[in-house]
Amino acid sequence: MKSAERLCMHISIDGPAGAGKSTVARLVAQRLGYTYLDTGAMYRAIALAVLQAHISSHDAPAIAELIKKCDLQIKTEIDGTNKIYLDGKDVSADIRQQAISAIVSDVANYKTVRDVLVDKQRQMASHGSAVLDGRDIGTVVLPDAELKIFLIASLAVRAKRRNADLQQSGEKVSPEQLAKAIEERDSKDAKNTYGPMRAADDAIIINTDNMTINQVVQKIVDLSKRP
Ligand code: CDP
Repeated sequence: MKSAERLCMHISIDGPAGAGKSTVARLVAQRLGYTYLDTGAMYRAIALAVLQAHISSHDAPAIAELIKKCDLQIKTEIDGTNKIYLDGKDVSADIRQQAISAIVSDVANYKTVRDVLVDKQRQMASHGSAVLDGRDIGTVVLPDAELKIFLIASLAVRAKRRNADLQQSGEKVSPEQLAKAIEERDSKDAKNTYGPMRAADDAIIINTDNMTINQVVQKIVDLSKRP
């Protein structure tokens, strides 16, 4: 890591589904005055475009065509959250549905999709200090990030957290179904051909099972200030 007086710093926060990456990344960015980028939301938006176009998530040529035409915009709100626009429409809530979670790992496994999104992510991160969360940020997107975090938590804790998110949005999924869906997605993400979910060799692994969000945020903020 470089000194605390660094002009520009990138923090990658990777890890499995429901480990708290997005919430933590947004709050770390807010505390440090950095830009926050939710890369998972970008893959989710493409998965939504696939569903809306009635394309199968296994139809590689159709998805390769679709990604060329998608107009994906990400804007940061005052509170630091990311709003995602697909072809001009705010789809930030739609992309959180279970129907999207069910196909997003398949859509994220196409090189045609990853090439476009990774490029966009690097470009967005190039404007200044930023916190990016995802699966392959520390390994593929920003291998030179000054601070790399890999957040983990037990499946039970992650399913409980995700259940609370879904209940808030009014979607009903049984805890057993949810745990199974998370496990399936993690397994696919770990096997992703072009950007597998993996901790970088120089990543710091944080198990969030017995930590509050604020404790995790504080730990990362402290690490970012380490000489
Ligand atoms: O929030 P959650 O942990 O459920 O997932 P997400 O960050 O919204 O990411 C949704 C999906 O996008 C993941 O399950 C991956 O399939 C894919 N993804 C990826 O392949 N690479 C990234 N950098 C981010 C997400």
